[in-house]
Parts: sequence; C-alpha cells; structure tokens
Amino acid sequence: AQVPVSVPHRDKPPARSILLSLVLSPELEFQLLQPQGAVSVSAGETLTLNCSVTGLGPPGPVKWFKGSGSGRQLVYDQKGSFPRVTRAVSGSSTDFTIHISDTRPEDAGIYRCVKFEKGSGADEEIRSGAGTVVSVSARPSAPSMSGPPSRAEPGPPVTFTCTSGGFAPRDIAVTWLKNGAKLPAPQPRVLPAHESVSYSVSSTVGVNLTAGDARSQLTCQIEHSTLPAPLRATYKLSDALRVPPRLRVGTDPAVPVAPNESVTFTCHAEGFYPKDVSLTWLENGNETNLGKPSPLAENPDGTYTLQSSLEVNATEQRSQSMFTCRVVHDSQSPISASATLRLSQPSAEPGPALTLPKLHLSSLSPSSLPSPSLLHPFQANP
Ligand SMILES: *[C@@H]1O[C@H](CO)[C@@H](O)[C@H](O)[C@H]1NC(C)=O
Ligand SMILES: *[C@@H]1O[C@H](CO)[C@@H](O)[C@H](O)[C@H]1NC(C)=O
Ligand SMILES: *[C@@H]1O[C@H](CO)[C@@H](O)[C@H](O)[C@H]1NC(C)=O
Ligand SMILES: *[C@@H]1O[C@H](CO)[C@@H](O)[C@H](O)[C@H]1NC(C)=O
Ligand SMILES: *[C@@H]1O[C@H](CO)[C@@H](O)[C@H](O)[C@H]1NC(C)=O
Repeated sequence: AQVPVSVPHRDKPPARSILLSLVLSPELEFQLLQPQGAVSVSAGETLTLNCSVTGLGPPGPVKWFKGSGSGRQLVYDQKGSFPRVTRAVSGSSTDFTIHISDTRPEDAGIYRCVKFEKGSGADEEIRSGAGTVVSVSARPSAPSMSGPPSRAEPGPPVTFTCTSGGFAPRDIAVTWLKNGAKLPAPQPRVLPAHESVSYSVSSTVGVNLTAGDARSQLTCQIEHSTLPAPLRATYKLSDALRVPPRLRVGTDPAVPVAPNESVTFTCHAEGFYPKDVSLTWLENGNETNLGKPSPLAENPDGTYTLQSSLEVNATEQRSQSMFTCRVVHDSQSPISASATLRLSQPSAEPGPALTLPKLHLSSLSPSSLPSPSLLHPFQANP
C-alpha cells in the first residue's frame, strides 16, 4: 500500500515529524467509504457498488460481502475467482468499487465493503462500510392462460386463469378483457406472501359464455413498473365453447299427405359449435342410410348448421311411421327430433259421418243399449 508522504497544507510539519502527523491529521486517518445507501438495478444489467479507502491502513485485504452475520456470503476478494465481478479500477489500493454483471433477482440484498487486517492467524475484520441496499427489479414472464379442462356450454360462469412469474418489485396489475371490453375480476394472488427476491401472480376470472362466443377472444393483460408496455396473452373462447345444436324435423309437403305421394323429411341441426357432428335417420327406431346431408354451413356468429333430407314413399304400410333424426355432437349423448308420417284419407273411402256411429255402437254392450228413440239420429243412415 502507498503511504502518502506529502501533506496538503503548507503549515504541516516537515517529514521528520511524519509519525506525529499520522496520528493527528484527519487526512491520513484510515477511512472506509461506502457512499451508496441504496441502489436499484434491472435484472440483466450491471450493478456498480462503490467503496474507497483513504489514509493509512494496516496491511490486509478489502472484501465485499452480501448479508450479515455468520451467514454472510463472500461476493468479492482480491484472491479467488468471482466470474460476474470485476474491479472498477483494477489493482487499485484505494478504490474497491466493483461491478457485478448480469444481475439476477437473487442478487438483491445488503452489500458491505469490509477491511481486514493481516494477522498471525486468520485475517481480522477492522472496518465495515455502512452497507448498500441493492434491489433488483425483474420483468414478469410472458403470461400464460388456461381455460376449463373440457368444453363448456353457455350459461354458468367458466373459470380462466392467467399466470406470470419472476418479477420484482411485488406490485403488479392484471386486467381481463373480452373482445376488448374490461371484465370484472377479483384481486390477483401474488406469491409468496412474505418479502422475496421475486414474485409470481395468478389471476382468475369467471366468464359467462354465450352461443356467439365462437369468435370471441379473452385477453389477460399484465402491467408492471419494469414494462414499457403491458404484456398480453390471449385465449380463443372457441377452444372452451360447446353449443349444442337446435334440432327440428319438417316435412315437404306438410303432413298429412296423400297415399303413395313422395315426402321429404328434413332435419335441421342449427347453431352448434364445434362442427364435429354426426346425423343419422331412423324409421320406427330402425336406422336408415338413405338420408342426404347438405354441406355444413357456417353462420355469421361462427356456429354451424347442418341439414339432412330423407325422401320416402308415403305407402299405406308407412302410415304412422315415425321418422327420427338423431345427432351426436362433440361426443355428447345423442339428441333427437321426430316427425310422424300421416296419410290423408283417400276421398273415395266412406266419410266420418258414417264411421262415427259405427264406432259408438260397437263400444256399447247389449245390456246397456239405449232406447230406440235415442238411436234415432243415427238410423237415418243404415
Ligand atoms: C463509484 O466508483 C466509480 C469508479 O471509481 C466512480 O466513477 C463513480 O463516480 C463512483 N460513484 C459514486 C456514487 O461514488
Ligand atoms: C353469469 O351467470 C351467473 C349465473 O349463471 C349470473 O349470476 C351472473 O350474473 C352472470 N354474469 C354476467 C356478467 O352476466
Ligand atoms: C299405392 O300404391 C300401391 C302399390 O303400387 C297400390 O297397390 C295402391 O293402390 C296405391 N294406393 C293409392 C291410394 O293410390
Ligand atoms: C328393422 O329392420 C329389420 C331388418 O331390416 C327388420 O327385420 C325389422 O322389422 C325392422 N323393424 C322395424 C320396427 O321397422
Ligand atoms: C317410390 O315408389 C315409386 C313407385 O312405386 C318408386 O319408383 C320409387 O323408387 C319409390 N321411391 C322411394 C324413395 O322409395
């Protein structure tokens, strides 16, 4: 170590009195200066920790520590390897400023510059700096979003979660948007609850899906002091949505139809999502593969519509036959709708005026036969 022998003031004693000066002059008294009270750095940047010594000190190293007590961690020593640490003035015996490159959230803590005196045994600590509080701010990771484990139908609220982590300081804002409009959401959960070098956040929102959400987008937006612009994650609600089809069966021409007429049954499966659907026709519970499906059509709201037609001959044997359209949508239980084939009475057959009294009479037992006068109105047509 260099010992300054020239003294700044003209009225100082000559060189032979130097020993007396060492004791009395404040300029020569040993001092360790750690001027920074607190330093804030962004993760990845280089941190500079200032420390200098003045005056005459005993032989021995100056080291840097993080933390205090027996658990303190050696950050820099003139001997040994400290890959991320470099001296600001290499080899200086007065300036012990260090640079720590590529800072991480874990680097946050209190750093002290400490002077040791070489002793016969272990070096002895003789002076410590006041300490510099280092905080490392870190950006939150790109948010990730999750939705329900399986598709949900319009109605009750469906839960979506947005998470991010690795950020500091703790303060963070999470907002939810559906098609750009803000959604009410509870306060996000920031963990750990105690003070930490970095934090993670989880925010949950309940969204009521509607049939029109096949084209909707859910956005989670994160704002933090380290971010020049908010971070966003999006979720296509179509990935979480199931809209069952509305089913209806119609006939052309309308029933009842004349015998031996050709009738077209049409099944309309409307407004469903996703498009995965299968449709079958049954005649009196028996599957028939004679249905002709129309191409799948996409509606303006992103849902789909499918039609299938079944042409049948309205033969006498088919009178009162039930034609059922059965739809399996998105691997759910089948749903169905039906129509019955009714035949109109041919005009050649006897009319109702004649058949009605016959039915009445046959339903009466001989013991309860009404008097002939009561039967009179029907006797007009024997
Ligand atoms: C810290 O030390 C460096 C290198 O000696 C110096 O350039 C800088 O001015 C010092 N900063 C403070 C705040 O003391
Ligand atoms: C969502 O649905 C629930 C019940 O299903 C209802 O109580 C709530 O008000 C709905 N929320 C919105 C925003 O429509
Ligand atoms: C319908 O067709 C069958 C067989 O071709 C025939 O026997 C029957 O008389 C026809 N019925 C009518 C009402 O035309
Ligand atoms: C269903 O089809 C089978 C075979 O084609 C036939 O034997 C059966 O009578 C049919 N049942 C009905 C209710 O039409
Ligand atoms: C209906 O009946 C006519 C004649 O009886 C026949 O030519 C036609 O193929 C039948 N159509 C269907 C769909 O069974």
